[in-house]
Amino acid sequence: MTADRIIAGAPNEEDEPFETSLRPRRLTEYIGQNKVKDNLKISIAAAQQRGEPLDHVLLYGPPGLGKTTLANIIAAEMGVSVRTTSGPAIERPGDLAAILTNLQQDDVLFIDEVHRLARAVEEILYPAMEDWALDLVLGKGPGARSMRLALPRFTLIGATTRYAMMSPPLRDRFGSVYRLDFYDADAIVQIVARSARLLEVELDEGGTREIARRSRGTPRVANRLLKRVRDFAQVMADGSITTEIAQEALARLEIDQLGLDDVDHKVLLTVIEKFDGGPVGLDTIAAAISEEADTIMDVYEPYLLQLGFLQRTPRGRVATKAAYEHLGLPPHGRAPAGQPTLWS
Ligand code: ADE
Repeated sequence: MTADRIIAGAPNEEDEPFETSLRPRRLTEYIGQNKVKDNLKISIAAAQQRGEPLDHVLLYGPPGLGKTTLANIIAAEMGVSVRTTSGPAIERPGDLAAILTNLQQDDVLFIDEVHRLARAVEEILYPAMEDWALDLVLGKGPGARSMRLALPRFTLIGATTRYAMMSPPLRDRFGSVYRLDFYDADAIVQIVARSARLLEVELDEGGTREIARRSRGTPRVANRLLKRVRDFAQVMADGSITTEIAQEALARLEIDQLGLDDVDHKVLLTVIEKFDGGPVGLDTIAAAISEEADTIMDVYEPYLLQLGFLQRTPRGRVATKAAYEHLGLPPHGRAPAGQPTLWS
């Protein structure tokens, strides 16, 4: 399963207790995403001064970057409880109505994968977000009547890996929208060092750098790699993580210098070798390597795009010169029809 892969941004079963203990609980502990943090601090302070709940917040970006963590931090900073659910878990309008009527005043309702809410469920959410009201329709046909119930004031925090798949009316009802980006090298180094401290693992500077470098700018991946390298150091050495130990452990995990695993390699090699470097559609790539198109789009492609190894064009994905170089392949001279070669 892809979610179990060590570089996947999606959580796996092993992460839970481990991650919970490593997750920052307050904004001051949260490393990176500085622009998001600064804006949130202002919104939180302003809402608190006014004695109001925070305006609804939408967080989007690739998996593993801290959307759930931030939602919990926002609730903690506001001093309120958080109720967590997800788009696909809310099957019927009645399910959402039950959740909304059970919220306490000013609570945070966190809906993960908010782009997967059913349309009929979304319709319930609109008046709830705008007016803290639940519109009920009683009866059917010409005799149907509608009734409005007051809800407790609350803050909706939505999270999604697919901003484009959200319906515009839902998007528009969030007071602030934050995009989480991959973390820069510095932030990941700090996160690895912080996690090692919390886990009481000895980790030198070189070991930290090795793990950070292969973490795909993703804290969840960084923490997972740290855990695997810790196992290796414990069994194969004296428990402390040095450059050499980290390199050896990561090599065994078949994660390359940039954090790419065999699926990333397959994606790139498919584009390059089977489709002459592209352009080729994502579904075709997915079929060629027997992976789900959604997984490639959410988990693999964002980092390959960020590295500049893939480009998205209207006609499909194209492998760049940098991808050929990283894989040690000679650049092929044939340009995709109608395009100049990327390295001519
Ligand atoms: N652990 C996971 N994400 C983190 C972050 N952004 N800051 C600190 N520790 C983390």
